[in-house]
Amino acid sequence: MSANRMVWLNGDYIPWENATVHIMSHSFGRGSAIFEVISFHGTGRGPAVFRLQAHIERLFRSAELLEMELPYSKEALCDAVAGTIKRNGLRQGFIKIICFYPEVSFEIIPPESPLSVSVFALDPEQDLGGLGDYFKEGTTVYVSNWRKLDPRTVPIEAKAAANYLNGMVARLEARKNGFKNVIMLDTQGFIAEGGTESAFLVKDGCLLTPSTGTVLKSITRMSILESAREAGIECIEKQLKPELLDSAAEIFLSSTPFKVLPVKQINDRKLPDAPGPVTRQIAELLNAVIGGNDDRFENWLYFVK
Ligand SMILES: Cc1ncc(COP(=O)(O)O)c(C=O)c1O
Repeated sequence: MSANRMVWLNGDYIPWENATVHIMSHSFGRGSAIFEVISFHGTGRGPAVFRLQAHIERLFRSAELLEMELPYSKEALCDAVAGTIKRNGLRQGFIKIICFYPEVSFEIIPPESPLSVSVFALDPEQDLGGLGDYFKEGTTVYVSNWRKLDPRTVPIEAKAAANYLNGMVARLEARKNGFKNVIMLDTQGFIAEGGTESAFLVKDGCLLTPSTGTVLKSITRMSILESAREAGIECIEKQLKPELLDSAAEIFLSSTPFKVLPVKQINDRKLPDAPGPVTRQIAELLNAVIGGNDDRFENWLYFVK
């Protein structure tokens, strides 16, 4: 990752190499950091952040669920995101906001001291080795033996670092079996989601996705459902049996970095025609929105002035 980016930390811009914490900090030792990953895109009116307010709302919800207090207003955090993009001179890329307890701590209960807030801006080509032609290439998915974290064990709605061991072990299992991505079932045996992606299926022209409750309230998922409904595609959110993965005409994953990631193989089932027509239509809808070319969803874009 690029060492010459500037990082917003608690109101100041600091060099990349200074964005560090003590190994004994609570958030390092216990995984008590909350975060957001956000995308921004080049438009005719300059860079625009996709659904920034929704991401900031979710960050506040993560904090509330974990009894954390964010020391900045929502407006101040939007300004920090825009400022970090400008300061790094980027036109498109990703933002990562990480809120953490920097204090050294032995206890499981977090320190009384305030959360620190950091904002990183990254260019996928320069800093992450590029995303490749992922839409055309698609991905392969393994149905994991690990189950999605049960919402009765931790608040899975919170985007908290510690919750990601779940996706980590599932993705490692997929990799060991020769697959790139994963879908986990929930503890009741219904389709849940990927390690860091939502899951969508197309059956009889209808878009299906697991209802929230056992999956993250993904911003991309919400945007896909809203724009697909607007385009007249029938969308159903409900508990989905895993057998549907054998019969769905199309399957795709969705997340902030990829938006729509077509699935070309799931376990030993091949879907050679992926991306299928509905997957394409949805990807086109989202591409128009993020490029600033769909007036219906202009309020999803936060223009960096
Ligand atoms: C478990 C999980 N599901 C889904 C998603 C996709 O969420 P979003 O669309 O908000 O990026 C993520 C994103 O990191 C995730 O961690």
